[in-house]
Amino acid sequence: MTDVNTSATTVGAVATGDWQAWQESWDRQQEWYMPDREERFRIMLDMVEAVVGTSPRVLDLACGTGTITARLLARFPDATSTGVDLDPALLTIAGGTFADDERATFVTADLKDPDWPARLPHDSYDAVLTATALHWLRGEPLADLYGQVAELVRDGGVLMNADHMIDETTPRINAAERAQRHARMDRARRAGALDWAAWWKAAAEDPVLAEPTARRFEIYGEHADGDMPSAAWHARVLREKGFAEARPVWCSPSDTLLLAVK
Ligand SMILES: C[S@@+](CC[C@H](N)C(=O)[O-])C[C@H]1O[C@@H](n2cnc3c(N)ncnc32)[C@H](O)[C@@H]1O
Repeated sequence: MTDVNTSATTVGAVATGDWQAWQESWDRQQEWYMPDREERFRIMLDMVEAVVGTSPRVLDLACGTGTITARLLARFPDATSTGVDLDPALLTIAGGTFADDERATFVTADLKDPDWPARLPHDSYDAVLTATALHWLRGEPLADLYGQVAELVRDGGVLMNADHMIDETTPRINAAERAQRHARMDRARRAGALDWAAWWKAAAEDPVLAEPTARRFEIYGEHADGDMPSAAWHARVLREKGFAEARPVWCSPSDTLLLAVK
């Protein structure tokens, strides 16, 4: 067992190579930022069903541990998924979790590399789904990525991006929301919730994850340095890049789920 200690509190224990436990630990850590995370995924899959049906071929873009893939395959047994990500530790957890599930495939690629689509096993998808990830990119590379995604989505298929999207025209609302969110996070951390840094410290202490975790810090460093443009920006760029329609289908005070149909 790996005991996870921060300077403030003991925050959890995960058995080495226990992929289900790592999935649950990742989910709790992400929910520390986004208490509405599961609802966001539920609406995302509702809209997959509504627009492309219950047996889609999905690209889980910047898949991390395969969070979207797990919920997709549990809800739609006839779906298939390709997960793509650059993080060796999160991909280790994804690969371990889905080792016996031939519906899921995982690919290592950098979404800033212009040739990343060539690594995929398919050149066309019914749905490209992504969450809490594209804010790791700056605006220009993200616009380029949207152009590549538009080529991967079949006509009538969808892209959905759930992420932190900031409307700069509402600064007082944004400041109030941010203050409320951070106060809640501080309370949860004092109650023992695992934050990003503590979670990665735990991963580094698991003998199976230690080496890929060291590599992910060589790749990314400590922090992402991307942009968080507004939902209107995302919708406009997606139309410019080849989608016919794009608009939010869900939002919370801090996050938006944007749906684009090609
Ligand atoms: C916060 S995680 C979210 C993972 C998952 N979608 C979820 O909701 O749990 C962000 C993911 O984006 C991935 N990512 C960021 N930049 C990337 C890039 N340039 N290429 C591939 N993956 C990237 C990271 O490796 C990480 O797995």
